[in-house]
Amino acid sequence: MTSKRIVLSSDHAAIGMRQTIANHIAGLGYEVVDIGPTTPESTPYPQHGEAAARRVASGDCALGIILCGTGQGIMMAANKVKGVRCGVCSDAFSARMIRQHNDANMLSLGARVIGEALALDIIDAFLSADFEGGRHATRVDMITAIEKG
Ligand code: RB5
Repeated sequence: MTSKRIVLSSDHAAIGMRQTIANHIAGLGYEVVDIGPTTPESTPYPQHGEAAARRVASGDCALGIILCGTGQGIMMAANKVKGVRCGVCSDAFSARMIRQHNDANMLSLGARVIGEALALDIIDAFLSADFEGGRHATRVDMITAIEKG
């Protein structure tokens, strides 16, 4: 991964965890583009998933990390943006594999599912893995073809 710019977003369920993650990845040397929200009022996850996904799809950010209560709803919204491949992970193995095999460019986490220490472990696995290409590229191309209809 050459670019060090990572977009971060969540709904209201994950404001605190998002801040912890922002500090963590900034400490790893990444440029954090935290697009909020910053206040605790209830706010719909689709708009935050879409906003982060558009930063990745446009190339403004190399990767994205998004959160909601389960990680599921915001992941579904992000995956509606063309060019985005986002998976929800609750373990480090899956986070590594979605980079290595699926060329995931976004990671989604459930702030009501996992604790902060595990979230950071998952993020470390995601950020330290690279896409392996080869036969996996053929399969990722098939996903893109579905997107193109
Ligand atoms: C918000 O209450 C909750 O529905 C949301 O954070 C998320 O879990 C949806 O998938």
